[in-house]
Amino acid sequence: MNIEVLLTEAEIAQEFADSLEARDLPEKFFYWTPLSVKRWKELSERSEGSLRATWESLAAKAAGLTAPFGAKVPVISLGAGEGLKDRLFLRALVAAGRDVKYFPVDASQTLLEMAVAGAEDDDVEVLGIKADIASHMHLVLAADVSEAPRIFLMVGNTLGGFDPMDQIKQVADVVQKGDILIIDARLRDGAALPPREEQRRFVFAPLEAAGVTPDDGQVDFAENRDDRLDGLYMVTRRFQAARDLRFQAGGKEVPMARGERILLNFRYMYTAEAFRWLLTEHAGLRVVGEMNSPDGRFITAVCIRA
Ligand SMILES: C[S@@+](CC[C@H](N)C(=O)[O-])C[C@H]1O[C@@H](n2cnc3c(N)ncnc32)[C@H](O)[C@@H]1O
Repeated sequence: MNIEVLLTEAEIAQEFADSLEARDLPEKFFYWTPLSVKRWKELSERSEGSLRATWESLAAKAAGLTAPFGAKVPVISLGAGEGLKDRLFLRALVAAGRDVKYFPVDASQTLLEMAVAGAEDDDVEVLGIKADIASHMHLVLAADVSEAPRIFLMVGNTLGGFDPMDQIKQVADVVQKGDILIIDARLRDGAALPPREEQRRFVFAPLEAAGVTPDDGQVDFAENRDDRLDGLYMVTRRFQAARDLRFQAGGKEVPMARGERILLNFRYMYTAEAFRWLLTEHAGLRVVGEMNSPDGRFITAVCIRA
């Protein structure tokens, strides 16, 4: 199994302890431990179903979309996870006779191994890249695995786990003339979110892995507008300790007093107009195709450099 490591487990463990001390846990820790991966898989089964039609339709268009590429098609998936959607697309490219090279990029060793193993099962040439896609340097290094034209994927509402105003600019920055970026977003007015209890189990997993039990405190959800852009909404999740606690993190103990709060990962949601504005006016991309999932929960855009 080929995996290039730009972000080591020791660095993630150190950052986890630092983030607990800062009372603010970024997105990557919610896919890090085996418990988090299990909970993520339980939760993501719903969006897999919701986005399946979109990916079948993209797979049907894969050969046409990549016609200007010639025989060689590099596919770089940012926040690839298990790579299930990516594989529908990769298989279609292989069936169209393309020489596909797949580069799943993710901070989660476990999910990256699954993505690499899945591609190997499909006889696709694959190199996993363990990296932090919030880091501009890592994004540039990941993009440099191949020359343009390349397909970039950022799907399954991966953008929604970051500040989209910053992150989309960083991603757009590595998209060059000839490249294609396929990116999706969760629409705020789509069908209901997964039940709160399932979301709670998912967001609580990093704390549980650090020795905290559900009786040790409470997870609250709140939805707020992001005043920077009309149509941009953020769901925040916070844990509040019901008693004095000690987290086990990165080989040390991190104390937390009763009543203190930790910000867990957040999720951005958008109106279709706000998502288009982010891609075009804000990040300087051109949208050449757009698809809505049949249940109206997701919008997927095919973009090129403007
Ligand atoms: C919402 S999931 C989507 C996964 C996959 N694309 C899908 O459609 O199922 C987000 C993915 O981004 C990864 N991720 C989160 N933060 C990251 C970071 N800072 N650097 C690299 N990967 C990250 C997670 O490990 C996870 O696999």
